[in-house]
Amino acid sequence: MSKKLAKFRSDYRAPAFSITTVHLDIDLDERATQVRSQLHLERKNSGPLELDGEQLKLTSIKIDGKVLPPQNYEVTDKQLIVHELPDSFEMELVTEIDPSSNSALEGLYKSGGAFCTQCEAEGFRRITYYLDRPDVLAVFTTKISADRELYPYLLSNGNLESSGELDGGRHYATWHDPHPKPAYLFALVAGNFDRLEDHYQTSEGRDVRLEIFVDKGNLSRAEYAMAALKRSMQWDEERFDLAYDLDRYMIVAVDFFNMGAMENKGLNIFNSKYVLADQMTATDWDFVHVESVIGHEYFHNWTGNRITCRDWFQLSLKEGLTVFRDQEFSSDLGSRAVHRIDAVRVIRSFQFNEDASPMAHPIRPDKVVEMNNFYTVTVYNKGAEVIRMLHTLLGEQGFQRGMRLYRERHDGQAVTCEDFVAAMEAANDFDLTQFRRWYSQAGTPEVRIAQHYDAQQQQLTLNFQQLTPATPGQEEKFPLVIPLLFSAYDEKGSRIQLTAKDEVVKHESGSQLYTLTETTSSLTFSNVEQEPIIAWLENFSAPVKLQTPLTTVDLELLLGHAEQEVTRWEAAQQVYLKALQEAVDTNQAAQLSESQYTALKKALHAPLDDALKALIFTLPSAEELLEYYTEDAPLDAIELAVTSLAKTVADELSDDFAECFAKLDSQPDDLSGKAMAARALRQRCLYFLALAQPQQYSDEVAEQACQQGNMTLQQGALEIAVQHQLPCVEQVLATFAEQWQDTPLVMDKWFAAQANALHDTTVERVTQLIEHPKFSLRNPNRVYALLANFSRNSLRFHQQDGAGYKLLQSIITQLNTLNPQVASRLITPFMQWRRFDTRRQQMMKECLLQLQQLPDLAPDLDEKIANALQQ
Ligand code: TRP
Ligand code: ZN
Repeated sequence: MSKKLAKFRSDYRAPAFSITTVHLDIDLDERATQVRSQLHLERKNSGPLELDGEQLKLTSIKIDGKVLPPQNYEVTDKQLIVHELPDSFEMELVTEIDPSSNSALEGLYKSGGAFCTQCEAEGFRRITYYLDRPDVLAVFTTKISADRELYPYLLSNGNLESSGELDGGRHYATWHDPHPKPAYLFALVAGNFDRLEDHYQTSEGRDVRLEIFVDKGNLSRAEYAMAALKRSMQWDEERFDLAYDLDRYMIVAVDFFNMGAMENKGLNIFNSKYVLADQMTATDWDFVHVESVIGHEYFHNWTGNRITCRDWFQLSLKEGLTVFRDQEFSSDLGSRAVHRIDAVRVIRSFQFNEDASPMAHPIRPDKVVEMNNFYTVTVYNKGAEVIRMLHTLLGEQGFQRGMRLYRERHDGQAVTCEDFVAAMEAANDFDLTQFRRWYSQAGTPEVRIAQHYDAQQQQLTLNFQQLTPATPGQEEKFPLVIPLLFSAYDEKGSRIQLTAKDEVVKHESGSQLYTLTETTSSLTFSNVEQEPIIAWLENFSAPVKLQTPLTTVDLELLLGHAEQEVTRWEAAQQVYLKALQEAVDTNQAAQLSESQYTALKKALHAPLDDALKALIFTLPSAEELLEYYTEDAPLDAIELAVTSLAKTVADELSDDFAECFAKLDSQPDDLSGKAMAARALRQRCLYFLALAQPQQYSDEVAEQACQQGNMTLQQGALEIAVQHQLPCVEQVLATFAEQWQDTPLVMDKWFAAQANALHDTTVERVTQLIEHPKFSLRNPNRVYALLANFSRNSLRFHQQDGAGYKLLQSIITQLNTLNPQVASRLITPFMQWRRFDTRRQQMMKECLLQLQQLPDLAPDLDEKIANALQQ
C-alpha cells in the first residue's frame, strides 16, 4: 500500500469533468455485491479523468456503449485514470464489492442483519469509481435489488419511483433524488425493520411523509425521535425561514456506526444511540442528545446539503454552522443557560486540549492527510463558537440577514467558508477582514485583563492584552477580533451600566459589549463612584482563556447575584479552580473558606433552576485542571486536589445536601424539563451524600441502581456505587448486567461506568472487561464506552506503571486493521505525551514508536503519530 500524501487547501483545482447524472444499479449480496454505474460526464477543464476507487474489483468499463480497451486506462490501488475522452459522454462501470468483510464501516457494509452505507467523507469510492469530491454535484437514480425475505425494505435518497418482484425470491426498488448532490450524501439501506410513520405539513404546504426504521421490537423507542424531528422541522421554519424540500424524510437506526449520525439527503442514517430512547433504557441526557442530533442532521438539509462544501478543507462551513444551529434549537426549546454551559465545557475540556496538541489546526485546516482525522472538536465546536461570535457581533437580525443572502447567492452550490463570511459581511455592511483570522489561525487565544480604580478621580481603567501561543506550523500569530460581553456590579450585587463610550455598546443579550482587535488596548471610564466588580466574557462570548483580576470575594458576589445564569455558574467554577490550583501548587488537600461554603450553601437553596444548581455542584474534573499544566503535569497532586475538594464539599454541606435531597422527588415517570432538572440536582446531592457517608447510603444507592423503570435513576446510582466503591458495588454491577444483557445501549453504560471510575483498580477492571463476552472490537459504541472513556480518565490512564498505556496500545493495534477511524479516535491521549514527566513520556513515546512500526499502518494513525513525534 502506498503511503498517503498530504493535501493542501491552497492546491484546490476544479475537476476536469462534471458528472450531471448517475444511474446506479446495485445488486446486493453479502459477499459479492455488483454495482453498475452509468454516468454522464462533461468536460470542464483540461486533463485526464481521474476517478477515485478503493478496494473495488473492476469488471468492465464502457464509454458511449463501447468496451474500453485496457491500454486506454490505468488502475491503481486508489484511482482509475482514463485519457483521451470526448467532451461529453456516457460511461458505464461495473464493479464488485464484499460488504460482509467491511469492518471499517465506510462504504457499503453490514450492520447486524442490514446493509447500509456511510459515504462521508470519502466512502463512496469504496462503492464504485467516481469523482468522490464534494464539488461534483449530480442527480442520482438508484436501483437496489436484494432477497425479499431478508431485506423487505430497500431505501435510497429522494422519492420512490418504482418497485417490484424479481426472480429467485428477490425484489427491487428504484429511487430518484431530484436535488443534485455530492457523492458523500448518497445512501442506501436494505433490511428488515420496524417502521414508525408520521407526517409533517411544511409552511410551504408540502406534506412530508416521515419514517423511522429501527430493529424489530424497538418501535416504541423511536417515538421520541419522531417528535424531535417534527420539532426540528418547525423550528427551522420559524427561526431560519427554512422549510423541507422533499416529500419524504427517512431515518434509519443502525447499531454499528463510527460516528453519531449522517445527513444523507432524505435518508439519514443514525447510530441507534441517537434514535432509541424510552425512560426504561435512556437517561435524561440521552433524550437531550437524541433531540439535538436529530436536529443537527435535519438542519444539514440546508446547511450542508442544499449549500455544500467546495472541498473538505471547508468542512466547518457546514459543521460549525450546523452545530451552532442545533445549539440554538436546543436552547430555544430547553434551558438556554444549561445548553450554553454544556457547550462551554466541551470547548474547555476537549477543544482547548486539541488546540494545545500536535494536531492543532484552524477551524479551516490547511493541510490534511486523512480527512477522517478532521471531524474534530475544533472544526465542529470551535467552528460553532466562531459562528456564535458573528452572531454576537451582528445581532440576531443581522445574522439572519446574512443567512438569507448566503442562501440567495449559493443555493445549489458547493462553496467555501469565505463565501459564507462574504455574505454576512455584504448583508450587514460590516467589515469582517480581521475577523477572518479565526478561520486561518489555530490555537487558543489568552486574554488578560487588569483593572485599576482611582477613587479620587473616580476613574476606572482597564487594560487588555491578547496573545495566541504558537502551534505546530504556525509560529507567528496575529491579534484576533474578540467580542467580550460583560456586566458590572456594585458591591451589593446590583448591575450598573458603565457610562457608554464609542467602544462599548449595549448588547441585545443585556450585557455590554467591548471588542478587542489589538494585542493591547485599554478603556477608561470616568464618573465611576465606586470600584465595580466586572464579570467578563459573559456567556463565554469568545473561545479564549481568560485571566481576570477578580478575587474570591468578587466571585462569591457574582455567584450569588449575577443576572445571567451562566455567569453564576462560571463564578462557582472559578472559586473551585482557584482552590484546586492552590492545592496542586502546594501539594495539599483543597480547602474552601467559610464564606465560600456559605456562598455555595446559599446557591444550593436559592430559587434557581435545579439544572443550573446541578451544574454549579459539578466540580471541575482532573482533565479540566490538567489543562493548566503543560509540562511535568503533577498527576498525584491533581488527584489529591480533586478528590479532597469533593470530600470537603460533601462534608461541609452534608446537611444541606440531605435537606435538598429529601425535598426533591425523583418523579420517575415525568419527562418534563422541570422533572429532569430535579433529577439532575438529586443526583448531585446523592453523589455528595454517599461520598460523605458511604456506609449509610449504600443500601439506598443499591436499591435505586437495581430498580428498573427510569434509566436516569438507575445509571445515576450505578455511577455513584462504582465511583465511591460503595459496599454494594459488586452486587449492583451484577444485577444491572443481568437485567440489561440484551439491550446493547444500556450495556454500554455498564461498561462506561467502570471505565470512568477514579478508583485505582480501574486499569485492572478494564483489562478484564475486554474479555467479557459482551465486549466486541467490532462495535464502535462498545469500544468508545469502555476504551474512549478509560483513555479520558486521565488519573487512571496515566497510572505509574504504564499499564494503561499498554492496554490502549494493544487495542489500537487491533483496530488499525479492523477499523482505522475508531483506532485513530482512541489515540488522542497519546498525542499529549510531552505534557508529562520523563518516565511517562518515555513509556508513551515507546507506544507511539511501536504503533508506527505496524505493518499496514492506517493513514489515519500514520498522520497523527507522525505529528505527535515531530520535533
Ligand atoms: N456529517 C456527519 C455529522 O456531523 C458526521 C459523520 C457521520 C461522519 N459519519 C461520519 C464523518 C463518518 C466522517 C465519517 O452529522
Ligand atoms: Zn454535522
